[in-house]
Amino acid sequence: MSTFWSLWIIIGSLIVVFGCAWLLRMVLVDTMGEEGKEMPHSFDGIVEMNNPLPKWWTIMFAISIVWGLGYFALYGLANYAGPQQWQSANKHVYSLAESKAAVIAARDAGAVVQYDVEMDSADAVYGATYANYASKSVEELVKDPEAIKVGQRLFIQNCAQCHGSDARGQRGFPNLTDSDWLYGGSFDKIKESIMQGRVATGMMAWKDALGGDQGVEEVVTYVQSLSGRKVNAKMAAAGKAKFGLCMACHGTDGTGNEMMGAPNLTDKVWLYGGSKAAITDSVANGRTGVMPAWSEILGNDKVHVISAYVYSLSNK
Ligand code: HEC
Ligand code: HEC
Repeated sequence: MSTFWSLWIIIGSLIVVFGCAWLLRMVLVDTMGEEGKEMPHSFDGIVEMNNPLPKWWTIMFAISIVWGLGYFALYGLANYAGPQQWQSANKHVYSLAESKAAVIAARDAGAVVQYDVEMDSADAVYGATYANYASKSVEELVKDPEAIKVGQRLFIQNCAQCHGSDARGQRGFPNLTDSDWLYGGSFDKIKESIMQGRVATGMMAWKDALGGDQGVEEVVTYVQSLSGRKVNAKMAAAGKAKFGLCMACHGTDGTGNEMMGAPNLTDKVWLYGGSKAAITDSVANGRTGVMPAWSEILGNDKVHVISAYVYSLSNK
């Protein structure tokens, strides 16, 4: 960390702690007359009593201040490392690969990596169960309520923050319970999406290529007409003439392309919203959805059973 940012953090932190101490001192100094008596101000006839702060609270507050300062002194603050020379183990880790390397190095050095220990003991208990599920076909898994429940639990832990706990998605994060798929809804395609992740490429900002706001509005009008919206026919015709730019990915008829992850523009399902404003934003500024890859994080066996769960949602 540069000296500037180090000082910034040190000075900022100390101001906060000493500020709290000063605040406590100020409220303890009695300037409003005798304790337990009414104070000389009233609001709409409501008078405040001059009651002291509770003692237990004052003491806790003072202890927190002393504790904070002691913590800084022992464990350091910004570039000051303190006598313990404490460091975050993963201070220089910026990627999953670096994190794994750091864990292996720590293990070789004899350090106990708690996450590892817990993962190993969980693997010992559940590994066989997952391996068993992984050896089964999706047809077998969807008929096994226990397997689907396991998949659902893994989904809630790992996927719900983006796709929602009911997998119905939200703006920018696709609904996984319908039959509308960006990259394909077969079991193999779903598993591929989860294992390798997906990065939506190619939906660049089209504003310049379309010649500015006018061109964007025409194409957006045409796109709206594709899903049956009533639109200005002249605008739509002008937009249709420009739609040639879009066909490579969205298809000549706008029904999309699962190879590219290009959505179907003719249905009523919208990843980023179907209002005129939302479509305009998509076309003018572009979109790049990113679905993280899970093969490294969860491994094949768990992804297999999650995939079966996701598949079961739209294949009852
Ligand atoms: C190179 C491929 C490619 C081209 C060309 C392309 N798109 Fe897209 N488009 C995509 C992809 C991929 C997505 C999905 C983006 C995402 O998932 O984040 C997308 C998303 C969209 C969306 C959002 C759909 C939704 O469901 O919210 C609209 C609208 C759209 N494109 C319109 C157009 C228009 C109009 C053009 C032509 C001016 C165009 N696209 C050209 C690949 C393309
Ligand atoms: C950080 C957010 C995030 C997390 C976490 C996440 N996803 Fe996604 N997922 C996305 C986005 C964004 C897309 C759409 C990519 C695009 O726009 O092209 C997507 C796409 C998908 C698709 C393809 C959908 C289609 O229509 O083809 C599947 C299947 C999927 N996710 C399943 C999962 C599962 C299962 C998990 C948990 C293991 C998960 N996702 C976790 C963001 C996420």
